[in-house]
Amino acid sequence: MAQRIIIDTDPGQDDAVAILLALASPEIELLGITCVAGNVGLPLTAANARRVCELAGRTDIPVFAGHDAPLRRKLVTAEHVHGKTGLDGVDLPAPSMPLQDRHAVGFLIETLRREPAGSVTLVPIGPLTNIASALARAPDIAARIGRIVLMGGAYFEVGNITPAAEFNIYVDPEAAQAVFACGAPITVVPLDVTHKALVTAPRNAAFRALGNRAGATVAAWTDFFERYDREKYGSPGAPLHDPCTIAWLLRPELFSGREINVEIETTGQYTTGMTVADWWRVSGRPANALFLRDLDAEGFFSLLTERLRRL
Ligand code: BDR
Ligand code: CA
Repeated sequence: MAQRIIIDTDPGQDDAVAILLALASPEIELLGITCVAGNVGLPLTAANARRVCELAGRTDIPVFAGHDAPLRRKLVTAEHVHGKTGLDGVDLPAPSMPLQDRHAVGFLIETLRREPAGSVTLVPIGPLTNIASALARAPDIAARIGRIVLMGGAYFEVGNITPAAEFNIYVDPEAAQAVFACGAPITVVPLDVTHKALVTAPRNAAFRALGNRAGATVAAWTDFFERYDREKYGSPGAPLHDPCTIAWLLRPELFSGREINVEIETTGQYTTGMTVADWWRVSGRPANALFLRDLDAEGFFSLLTERLRRL
């Protein structure tokens, strides 16, 4: 039976590739997409999610708008990485499929209450505002979540938006703290993994060589947002952060990690948004997450390329 998931997202080129990978994979049933403010503001993320569904020919996927700002902080965005539309690199037409009327948080709560307990996986690949908001409004859903597979945080790589913090966690650390404390099983895909998922020139050429619209679009998106990582880290290509979550669901054997305790810093003078990951198990605090560290990058890119071919 297909894994039933909800993607909570702030597209973002790498978010868009994650959505495409899910839609191209028969092992996954995408129940809906919930949008949040993050890489760009909510009106753009909600439009971009629909652009991506239309690119995949999947106008049947319900897309919901959620929170337009973090729970208690001012929104920080990342146009410096993703461009002013969030999907710079290709001009996709304005979406014609509708945005659902309901708020994303209502959809999350209702779905988790309706479906059998443990049967729905949440895949948050942006700031955790919507997920934390749902947990605050309906604490009973925590026990019904099958697993949360999130992109966020870092240990060995430390931070990208500040010296200490990764973007998704930094934007809404109070939300992240609530999610890590909720008791549901959690898989964390941190920068330590995603900085190994680099779209090198041959991998980009392989997307383009697929000869379909999805391949050309993914190649153009990654061409656009690689400039940031190339300048900053000297990387040979753009990191595909968010698709690693879907790849873990499809092929967990491509990854390795440890069950450890992860706490979120919310009050640090310099470290707000840091994922304090007890990789060496020195804190004595109980494990609350499977924290991934390594990736078989070749396996990941052959999976992704093979799936994009189907779109
Ligand atoms: C994360 O932040 C966003 O810019 C990306 O979409 C990804 O979810 C990486 O830090
Ligand atoms: Ca994202």
